[in-house]
This record gives sequence, C-alpha cells and structure tokens, in this order.
Amino acid sequence: MPQKVIAIDGPSASGKGTLAQRVADALGWRYLDSGALYRITALYARNRRTAWDNEAAVAALAQALPVEFVEGSVLLDGEDVSAAIRSEEIGMGASRVAALPAVRTALLQRQHAFLTEQGLVADGRDMGSVVFPDAVLKVFLTASPQVRAERRAKQIGVPLAGAGFERILADIEARDEADRNRTVAPLQKLPEAHLLDTSALTIEESVKKVLDWYREK
Ligand code: DC
Repeated sequence: MPQKVIAIDGPSASGKGTLAQRVADALGWRYLDSGALYRITALYARNRRTAWDNEAAVAALAQALPVEFVEGSVLLDGEDVSAAIRSEEIGMGASRVAALPAVRTALLQRQHAFLTEQGLVADGRDMGSVVFPDAVLKVFLTASPQVRAERRAKQIGVPLAGAGFERILADIEARDEADRNRTVAPLQKLPEAHLLDTSALTIEESVKKVLDWYREK
C-alpha cells in the first residue's frame, strides 16, 4: 500500500521548504521539514558543548530532543530557535551530524510520527529513499547552483555579485558535495522520482506541477 506521503528531496536551497509547505497547504496535509531536525540536533549539541562528530553522544541528544513545532515556530527546551537554526554555521553542523548513522537512526521514529491519516508532505534528502520509501509520490527537486545561490543571497540581503555572493555559491557547492558523497542516505535521484528543475519556474508553477503529478496517480 502506498503511504499518503509526498516525498520531496533535493539539495540545499533548491526551494524544497517553500514548495513542500505550499503543496501541504493545498492538500490540507501536514508538513515535515526533516532538515530542521538535523539543524536542531546540531544546535542542541553545540549548546550542550558536545562535538558534532561524537556519534554516540550526538545520537543520544537526537533521541531525546526537547523540541516542539508550534504554529510555524521551532521551540527547543521551550526557547524559540526558528532563526538560530537557519544560520550557515548550524547548517554546516547539520550536515556533519547528518553524516552519522546513529543520529539518522535516532531521528527516524520522530519523522515517522509526523505521518497521520491527514497525509504528509515531507522534504529532505532521504524522504523517498529511507524514511518514506512507500510514498505515493516522490519528487527530486533541483536548480542550478547559481540559481540556488541567488535565491539564498536575496533571502539574506547579500548583493548578487562580489565576495559575499561567491562565498554563498561556494558553501552551496560544498554542501552538495558532502550530501551526495556521504555513505549513509546520500542525496540521490531515485529512478521512480519525478525530476523537477525549478531554475526557470515560479513557485506557483512548481506547486502546480507537483499537484498535477499527484492527481495523475
Ligand atoms: O535542508 P536543510 O538545508 O535544512 O538540511 C540541513 C542539513 O541536514 C543538510 O546538510 C543535509 C541534512 N539533511 C539530511 O541529511 N537528511 C534530511 N532528510 C534532511 C537534511
């Protein structure tokens, strides 16, 4: 039986979050931002002075994350960390802790718990391959590194030329490389996933495409 899940996987800054949230709203389904769980784990480890490569200790923290998702905000130990988890530093930490198998296992159950009868749109790197392999629809989202760097720069108010922009582009390329080449749950396009290149699409066009694929099922 296919699961009532739309799995949207893709590289950093490909627009997965916005797309997944809009598709979830259109269908009245829940939304899981799985990357946020890795980011929260990295932040929690840093707060507890635990090294990001200490697999057993970080996995224990991931297992017991005191996290709540309340009306679009992320609370860690009751504190709103929605902005703190979006920093580049925590993004890098997330990429490091996400490479540890015990951490991925510790977060698996938490991700499964998001699925209810209501249906779920889940975004990440391994939604279709590991977490929800029986998802009714799998989408692999991409956009060129240049386009993704421009979107990220606009989001944080950095000019589209110059050293600041070059750094964003280099970070995106480094993160892609790390997420694609790690041994556990690497970012990959599955044969059954629909490829959606958003380089030349508006967000509305991308949402429509995903909803059309779902309705064709
Ligand atoms: O999507 P994001 O940028 O918030 O993800 C942060 C990091 O977490 C990213 O480097 C890869 C990792 N991640 C992962 O390994 N598996 C997921 N399902 C989601 C994110």
